[in-house]
Amino acid sequence: MPDVAKYGPWAVIAGGSEGLGAEFAKQLAGYGLNLMLIARTPGPLADTADSCRQLGAQVRTVAVDLLDPESVWQIMEEAADLEVGLLIYNAGANTCRQEFFDADLTDVGRVIDLNVTRMLELVHHFGRSMRARRSGGILLVGSTAATYGSMRQSVYTGSKAFSRLFAESLWLELRDYGVDVLELVLGVTRTPAMRRAGLNFEVPGIPVAEPADVARAGLENLANGPVFIAGDNAAAVQRGSGPDRAAIVLGGHRLMQKLIGAARRDVSADPDR
Ligand SMILES: NC(=O)c1ccc[n+]([C@@H]2O[C@H](COP(=O)([O-])OP(=O)(O)OC[C@H]3O[C@@H](n4cnc5c(N)ncnc54)[C@H](OP(=O)(O)O)[C@@H]3O)[C@@H](O)[C@H]2O)c1
Repeated sequence: MPDVAKYGPWAVIAGGSEGLGAEFAKQLAGYGLNLMLIARTPGPLADTADSCRQLGAQVRTVAVDLLDPESVWQIMEEAADLEVGLLIYNAGANTCRQEFFDADLTDVGRVIDLNVTRMLELVHHFGRSMRARRSGGILLVGSTAATYGSMRQSVYTGSKAFSRLFAESLWLELRDYGVDVLELVLGVTRTPAMRRAGLNFEVPGIPVAEPADVARAGLENLANGPVFIAGDNAAAVQRGSGPDRAAIVLGGHRLMQKLIGAARRDVSADPDR
């Protein structure tokens, strides 16, 4: 059970309406924390808020698109009277699935806005007061996609690599201030968003985790930063971090083709390689 006195009385979850985000919310409500939940779609946001209220939590919802730079001001305003002891930045996604040179730079920039810029802004805001109070926790949701480069995910993989190194650095900066920092690294997790994206959950050799188990593992390991790899993916991350990058990237590419299922150019068959 996480340290409720340290991470309360309020937790802010960016991306707290469904799947993994909803599991974080419900589990934290069960532990006795109050919640500010952020997401775009009002329906699932209201449903998750109701479930958390039934568990005894006070809940505020903020329906904003984190791609909108103004969203951060709205979140800060809504949280102005709250003591926030825990920030979870869960709202990430690969919002641009084209190859880099086919993509519009504006769309590429949105991947950075959602996965990097908004995260930095919210961490800076809430983390500063945690440091001043010498108490709190910051959980960033990362990905095994950060282990090696991947076609049509060139910016997303980079953004998640950024997230991990950022978390490790903050962990160093904050450990003498009583503020825990954790990068929770996810492999394939059976969330509604991934179902909608058409991910193949049946690829042999790729473990598929359930959102409730991943959320529990993250909350239980908040104090064991800087990184926790969820869902039986630690060995794969270790293998994918070796020095033979060409072999690793090509092997990862073949795996991604099975996982994503859509037609992809097979770089291993490219005569230029
Ligand atoms: N699921 C996987 O297999 C997997 C694997 C590796 C890493 N991850 C990482 O895990 C995290 C959660 O992924 P997920 O989508 O599968 O899980 P999720 O937690 O089930 O859903 C994402 C949450 O973020 C919100 N959100 C998404 N885009 C948003 C935006 N622009 N503004 C505000 N809220 C937004 C969604 O609500 P709305 O859509 O209503 O806004 C939802 O509440 C992400 O950081 C992702 O990169 C997932």
